[in-house]
Amino acid sequence: MSLQQATDGDLEKIEIALLLEGIFRRYGYDFRNYSYASVRRRIWHRIHLEGLNNVSSLQERVLHQPEAFGRLLGDMVIPVTEMFRDPAMFRAFREDVVPLLRQLPNLRIWHAGCSTGEEVHAVAIILHEEGLLDKTRIYATDINESALQQAKDGIIPIERMKQYTKNYHAAGGIQSFSDYYDSDHGVVILKPYLRNNVVFARHNLVTDRSFNEFHVILCRNVMIYFNSQLRDQVHRLFYESLANEGFLVVGDKESIAFTPKADKYDTWNEQYRLYRKMR
Ligand SMILES: C[S@@+](CC[C@H](N)C(=O)[O-])C[C@H]1O[C@@H](n2cnc3c(N)ncnc32)[C@H](O)[C@@H]1O
Repeated sequence: MSLQQATDGDLEKIEIALLLEGIFRRYGYDFRNYSYASVRRRIWHRIHLEGLNNVSSLQERVLHQPEAFGRLLGDMVIPVTEMFRDPAMFRAFREDVVPLLRQLPNLRIWHAGCSTGEEVHAVAIILHEEGLLDKTRIYATDINESALQQAKDGIIPIERMKQYTKNYHAAGGIQSFSDYYDSDHGVVILKPYLRNNVVFARHNLVTDRSFNEFHVILCRNVMIYFNSQLRDQVHRLFYESLANEGFLVVGDKESIAFTPKADKYDTWNEQYRLYRKMR
């Protein structure tokens, strides 16, 4: 194709590929196989905020100024989360999965893409109420360091607690939700015993390997940002990382159908995306 024939769309694709390649080589973050439409939206959002005109000018800035990369990184990783998000899933987890976990002598759970930790704290509360927290080690990982720090601190803005309390009860919670936190100047601090058995660590699903064998892996609303090739790669990683008869939980708009290991799982609860690795 001659340069004259290249459309603006073709050029933009080349520029975005070069930007993502540059980020990978310069900073080690690999967004090359994230969903193109979503990456493109985020890049243009950053271009406008930086007062720039095109992808190449953003590339120049991001490669030469680590602070500019930090700002773009903040746009690329979407930290949106909630405690007991999709409450019915947590109810199904408590009713359909926990009774099987009870039979194990100890438990390892991996929250992959845990963001600021709300999902982790929600599962810790369920395990505490079911008497399983003491025998559980939870590994909560993400690529976003500042989200992980918030997760470690267990601090949540107080205005979110109304929704979280509603979610907790819809998810089958029967205690007083306020028993799980202390309030302090506009924030709440979750009780430290909920985090005692949690290891928060940086792990990149694209570039890092498996690091243990788990009885449950939750990866909700993370792979929606990946293209199908990357989703397949991450599903292979999860399959390798799950114990036989371990559970995989994905988000309510996700499915394991058409992924390379789909036929190696029993569908435990299709509605709530609970899958069990076959023996
Ligand atoms: C929308 S949040 C989902 C949080 C939580 N799982 C939930 O459903 O409420 C997506 C998270 O995935 C993380 N993430 C994106 N790419 C990742 C990667 N390659 N490895 C690990 N985490 C990643 C983001 O930093 C973000 O915290």
